Amino acid sequence: MASRFLAPTMSILVGILLLFVHTSPVGAAGEVYKDPNQPVEARVQDLLQKMTLAEKIGQMTQLERENMTAEIIKNNFIGSLLSGGGSVPKTNATAKDWVDMINEFQKGAMSTRLGIPIIYGIDAVHGHNNVYKATIFPHNVGLGASRDPDLVKRIGAATALEVRATGIPYAFAPCIAVCRDPRWGRCYESYSEDHTVVQQMTELVTGLQGDAPSGYPEDYPYLGGKTKVVACAKHYVGDGGTVKGINENNTLIDWKGLLDIHMPAYPDTIRKGVGTVMISYSSWNGKKMHANYDLVTTHLKGVLKFKGFVISDWQGIDRITYPEHSNYTYSVEASINAGLDMIMVPYNYNEFIGILTQLVQKNYVSMSRIDDAVARILRVKFVAGLFENPYADLSLADQIGSKDHRELAREAVRKSLVLLKNGKNSNSPLLPLPKKSGKVLVAGSHANNIGLQCGGWTITWHGTPGNNYTTGTTIFDGIKSTVDPGTKVIYRNNPSDKFLKDTKFDYAVVVVGEVPYSETQGDNLNLTIPQPGLDTVQTVCKNIKCVVVLISGRPLVIEPYLSDMDALVAAWLPGSEGKGVADVLFGDFPFTGKLPRTWFKRVDQLPMNVGDAHYDPLFPFGFGLETHPAAAAKAQ
Ligand code: GLC
Repeated sequence: MASRFLAPTMSILVGILLLFVHTSPVGAAGEVYKDPNQPVEARVQDLLQKMTLAEKIGQMTQLERENMTAEIIKNNFIGSLLSGGGSVPKTNATAKDWVDMINEFQKGAMSTRLGIPIIYGIDAVHGHNNVYKATIFPHNVGLGASRDPDLVKRIGAATALEVRATGIPYAFAPCIAVCRDPRWGRCYESYSEDHTVVQQMTELVTGLQGDAPSGYPEDYPYLGGKTKVVACAKHYVGDGGTVKGINENNTLIDWKGLLDIHMPAYPDTIRKGVGTVMISYSSWNGKKMHANYDLVTTHLKGVLKFKGFVISDWQGIDRITYPEHSNYTYSVEASINAGLDMIMVPYNYNEFIGILTQLVQKNYVSMSRIDDAVARILRVKFVAGLFENPYADLSLADQIGSKDHRELAREAVRKSLVLLKNGKNSNSPLLPLPKKSGKVLVAGSHANNIGLQCGGWTITWHGTPGNNYTTGTTIFDGIKSTVDPGTKVIYRNNPSDKFLKDTKFDYAVVVVGEVPYSETQGDNLNLTIPQPGLDTVQTVCKNIKCVVVLISGRPLVIEPYLSDMDALVAAWLPGSEGKGVADVLFGDFPFTGKLPRTWFKRVDQLPMNVGDAHYDPLFPFGFGLETHPAAAAKAQ
């Protein structure tokens, strides 16, 4: 059965296997799989044939690190662990804390009969965001606004270094969702509503994994050594197309629409050697993706020739049935037979392993299906070099939050900003702001708050407001350090009308927006600017010339208030380097960002995407005013 998936590249694989036939000392006491000079496929087949069913099923099992021990790993031949959102060895854990934890787990795996190393995965989705003092890059929606694939590749490379610094060889990124409705709580994880932008941003895979050398087998998982990490294209497929953006819900679209809108970036990631693909919680026309043989096996593994491993989402198989986990035996059978290779269980390993063992012994799941899954997992582990280097070290510890990475993140912030309005009429632009002036007001809840500017998936799963969860520069910090020393900068979160009337300000920067969220928690049907942000905008802007900087994972309702604003900047979720906002506000760099998503007038227009027959946006996909350095110089 496995040979059917590899037919299109059989010539390449035959070549690899022929190498094995001609060069391998077949009688070498069966140690082929331990010999890094042997072809990967030869090592895979050699190891596979040695493995018991228990060892095979253990490889297909991924568990959460919490409450995990080396003993459990050893006794159950566990193949993978993960950190779920916010799951850390301890608060403010250092690189050493991470490396020690992972090496302890690895000892359990390496002490098994065959010594198959675990692969540890984490959601490094905008930098190594679980980790204290790591560089936090703008979320994907902001990177989509940059339209800069090379920037995204460099971000991938920087992220890989910080992930490896903590001993982790696998990141659950990029999310290549094509978000079609901003009411979806994960829309900020999507680069764009337009698949062509998402396709460009698959350069993150190359940044994370490295560039495969010329002549490397096509569509074959690749990893460029100990400074790179295995990537994960997610969530296959159609996660961004659900009804009303309801998370994990149903994507109602015909086959052509699925292929044209939600599928195109997957072949790009496969061509770039992506090691893994994660399945979406959502359904396609009522069929759960986690149980969809046609899309997972026939299409992804057959037509697209994907040769890495397919992993479930967190308790993704439990949600095949409703209420979830109500028929776990069916969940296991349906998902494995659909073509999933590794299951993010992530806790009830005895139940999962017991049921899958029973299903194989009763032939409800074939051994060839198990062998296909395990071969794929071993392939990625061999390519990742884990057999040669199972243990992590601290050689990259200084990469975490390094100056270079923070400068890269600051560049990304600059390129992500989209200027939507500049002056109440076109011949009186407000931006770039003058660095020299008397007194400047910085207002708003999001002006001086790293947690708010980072958004979800930062230190904790949902993100947390505040300045002491990690390090970086707030937007206020950036403004203070950018303006002329003689300019007085005053911060007020939500200034009163009286204060504003009593104090003469030359202009105000008002920074407001959404509070952090992730996944279903972020689903939102009204998309209004949360209070007191809206009040702050209205109070300040009716008294002072104001530029509003909106911190959000998506477009929000602004049409009714636009006329109050002298200027408006969409800053998305910029991450830890807020200084990048000031770089552009004050003209050291131009505004270049372009909307990666349609900016609606009213929520009742949704879903509304570029190319729709009836398209009546406030600001269209691709919109973005520009400023020029010359203007900046004049403004000083
Ligand atoms: C989450 C997300 C997925 C993430 C996984 C592990 O529920 O859906 O994107 O990679 O679980 O944290």
